[in-house]
Amino acid sequence: MEKNQLGDILNFYRDLGVEYLNIKLKKEKKSSKNTFFYLEKLKREVENCKACELYKTKKHYVFGDGNPNADLMFIGEAPGANEDEQGLPFVGRAGKLLDDLLKEIGVERKDIYIANCLKCRPPNNRDPQESELKACRSFLDNQINLIKPGVIVTLGRFALMQLLGNDKKITQSRGIVFEMGIYKVIPTYHPAYLLRNPKAIEIFVNDLNVAKKYLRI
Ligand code: URA
Repeated sequence: MEKNQLGDILNFYRDLGVEYLNIKLKKEKKSSKNTFFYLEKLKREVENCKACELYKTKKHYVFGDGNPNADLMFIGEAPGANEDEQGLPFVGRAGKLLDDLLKEIGVERKDIYIANCLKCRPPNNRDPQESELKACRSFLDNQINLIKPGVIVTLGRFALMQLLGNDKKITQSRGIVFEMGIYKVIPTYHPAYLLRNPKAIEIFVNDLNVAKKYLRI
């Protein structure tokens, strides 16, 4: 908004007899053009990555997806079969459940950004190895620093450990707001765990609501 537009608006309210305005300023909008450009550049780097052996067995690299201006970012573990097939994160059953539970708190997939610790599928969905997590780490860090979300929700134990350290346990950490530099990190269960343990869905939604409280926009 131009300065004199703001002046006109304030004069308008003053002429109406308003003496005080309680204004909540929105977070300054990041330049989505720049963020988009640098994310695309990083995506091309990922697509040339041979830092571990997983590139040999994957079908597609799964970079990440969503709104480059998101204030809420989710971090999962690694692509599964559906994600490997489509080159997009969380498009299988766990992803559908995540979408449904996001809707319960009034958030849509288009509002968030979602990425994984690993950009390639481990064969037969085995657990990520330490060396693979290390090799992929800088891609995730760069994604976070380009998107600059206010809040990061880690899904499951690998994302929790990748961000907050190997000593963290999901049952003791979930729902807690951790400060990681300028980011608030809130760990919670992985949606695949919820598919096996639907009783934990309520806790998961509570954790999402905690995350929502800390959003800046
Ligand atoms: N599980 C994950 O951790 N990430 C995906 O993208 C899909 C399933």
